[in-house]
Amino acid sequence: MTWDELNALCRSCTRCGLSATRKNAVIGRGNMNAPVLFVGEGPGAQEDEQGLPFVGQAGKLLDTALEALDFRPDMYYIANVVKCRPPQNRNPLPDEAGACIPFLREQFRLIRPKIVVCLGSVASVNLIGPDAKITAVRGKWLERKGTYFTATYHPAALLRDESKKIFMWRDLKAVREKIDEIAE
Ligand code: URA
Repeated sequence: MTWDELNALCRSCTRCGLSATRKNAVIGRGNMNAPVLFVGEGPGAQEDEQGLPFVGQAGKLLDTALEALDFRPDMYYIANVVKCRPPQNRNPLPDEAGACIPFLREQFRLIRPKIVVCLGSVASVNLIGPDAKITAVRGKWLERKGTYFTATYHPAALLRDESKKIFMWRDLKAVREKIDEIAE
């Protein structure tokens, strides 16, 4: 599948109920050949409006952290587990995530990232495993078929609880170091 085909499929998708209320399918942003793929949960109101992931408050926090840690824009691509906004920003339901995840897999296949970073528990449960509690998996590494998987808190969780910021900082710093390590 090509990016054009994937974009067209996402935009016309009706595999789950979230499609009924979307303004825009939010597919991703960033370098399509990046070493790092960040995966969030699902679009919020601003993302739905603009058709781009992480452009609201949580996204600003993420962008600020990435810039401060010297992630250059070509180093990453950002996507979500579900491409359409869940009502009232609730977590995507398991059947919604299940219906949408083939699109994320296709993105993974096209990007071929060296590192996948799950942002929060929805991404961790769907990409690392059903028992992946964020407090247990954050900051740890798991290698699968040559790709390194890790997790950190969702940036929206940091907006609610500032004490988590230091942990996200540490986790993202480790990701930044891993990029250099892999490139050597
Ligand atoms: N939260 C997410 O998980 N994804 C977005 O795109 C925006 C907020």
